[in-house]
Amino acid sequence: MTLNYISAAEAASLIKHGYNIGLSGFTPAGTAKAVTAELAKIAEAEHAAGRPFQIGIFTGASTGDSCDGVLSRAKAIRYRAPYTTNTDFRKAVNNGEISYNDIHLSQMAQELRYGFMGKVDVAIIEACEVTEDGKIYLTAAGGIAPTVCRLADKIIVELNAAHSKAAMGLHDVYEPLDPPCRREIPIYKPSDRIGSTYIQVDPKKIVGVVETNWPDEARSFAASDPLTDQIGRNVADFLVADMKRGIIPPTFLPLQSGVGNIANAVLSALGHEKTIPAFEMYTEVIQNSVIGLIREGRIKFGSACSLTVTNDCLQGIYDDMHFFRDKLVLRPSEISNSPEVVRRLGIISINTAIEADIYGNVNSTHIGGTRMMNGIGGSGDFTRNAYISIFTCPSVAKEGRISAIVPMVSHHDHSEHDVNVIVTEQGVADLRGKSPKERAQAIIEHCVHPDYKNILWDYLKLTDGKAQTPHAIQAALGMHAELAKSGDMRNTDWSLYA
Ligand code: COA
Repeated sequence: MTLNYISAAEAASLIKHGYNIGLSGFTPAGTAKAVTAELAKIAEAEHAAGRPFQIGIFTGASTGDSCDGVLSRAKAIRYRAPYTTNTDFRKAVNNGEISYNDIHLSQMAQELRYGFMGKVDVAIIEACEVTEDGKIYLTAAGGIAPTVCRLADKIIVELNAAHSKAAMGLHDVYEPLDPPCRREIPIYKPSDRIGSTYIQVDPKKIVGVVETNWPDEARSFAASDPLTDQIGRNVADFLVADMKRGIIPPTFLPLQSGVGNIANAVLSALGHEKTIPAFEMYTEVIQNSVIGLIREGRIKFGSACSLTVTNDCLQGIYDDMHFFRDKLVLRPSEISNSPEVVRRLGIISINTAIEADIYGNVNSTHIGGTRMMNGIGGSGDFTRNAYISIFTCPSVAKEGRISAIVPMVSHHDHSEHDVNVIVTEQGVADLRGKSPKERAQAIIEHCVHPDYKNILWDYLKLTDGKAQTPHAIQAALGMHAELAKSGDMRNTDWSLYA
């Protein structure tokens, strides 16, 4: 079948008010860009003419400004799932303008298949190659592309020349069957390939191919600093000690690491810790630091959902594909983040918390208990099932006015039952095998900033100290209340609650 080449504007005009669109991509990498940018213009024109125009968005994870940014500003998003990092989208969500469903990334594709979120009308898929017999070769991310291609009535392909055709072969496309027919996902080591290198679709569903040359809108992260370096050092020292004690096998275990500066610093510390043997990653995103460590031979293999790297780093990978071919694989998010695989492979997970409480509960998503930051991403997929689950964060935020460790988290994403270790620049609290009261001692002693230690010890004195999880329930959010009142948790006055 001959492919129908159309403009981005023509492609966008196929998307009507009320439609749900399914997008390729994961953390800007591999996201469709040109058609959503045109769609925002249509929405603005329709709104100016007094007509409604809003759509639902299903995607793998965060997208770039050409999707979440322009569409939020055009007030064109009715509903969206899952994770996003866009500032304008965040504002719209926290103003109550968008219905945002923040689900675990591993569940996104299956919940679409199960019919929990409605129909996928149009899939927009970024590709580095598409063939007349319906083979779509993805670019820098797996995301939920195979599922939305299968479920959508129509498929638009953005054929993006900014991605080299060297990306062909990077992907391992695999979609599990749904219950009750699902079998195990047969990945027994990070480098196992179980699917095909392309998505096969019915070519009749491809209603248009849009040629673009639009680089990924990757975020660049700040260089590491003494604080993130210290957190990285603390994680590395902790894992080395566990390996020496025989808790981690001498061959080490595959790592998952979250996104951002702390994750980069942690990986850099682990990569340069020579007592840790060269290791593998079974993770959600591969950042620049991983690529550097693969080049240095410190990371043997990287399995992920996306190459969330800067554009020059991505170009370097494409240029050196002969080297990376047997060292990288990209998978759909339900495979990269599969709880079943994570549990079986024995992943060490390392994610960043917004805040944690003295008993080991973690908030990854909400500021002040109510305002969405980004979303849970894959942190729950990995944490709940990890061999060792680690959360990192600076001990304080906003120049010390906020303590990351509080009596009770203001929003709950990862429970005390799942969180094994908390690491700040102050030190490491190993929570494994401990009761809640023992955990509180370890966290306050090792992780809390000196400005807040006495405040938290004094909080414990307000409790009866005996219950399984001692709390003075009216005071439990007292540090948050103080922040709202005076702008500084250091002013917390427990006598108000005595
Ligand atoms: N209370 C209020 N604000 C806080 C805070 C707290 N306890 N802790 C941090 N903040 C603020 C920071 O000051 C910063 O504010 P700014 O944007 O005004 O500068 C903002 O929150 C982000 O903090 P930062 O330290 O820059 O965080 P980060 O870039 O390392 O991201 C998360 C941290 C938790 C938001 C991020 O890791 C995330 O979205 N995690 C959830 C998803 C996840 O874990 N994905 C990986 C799975 S593979």
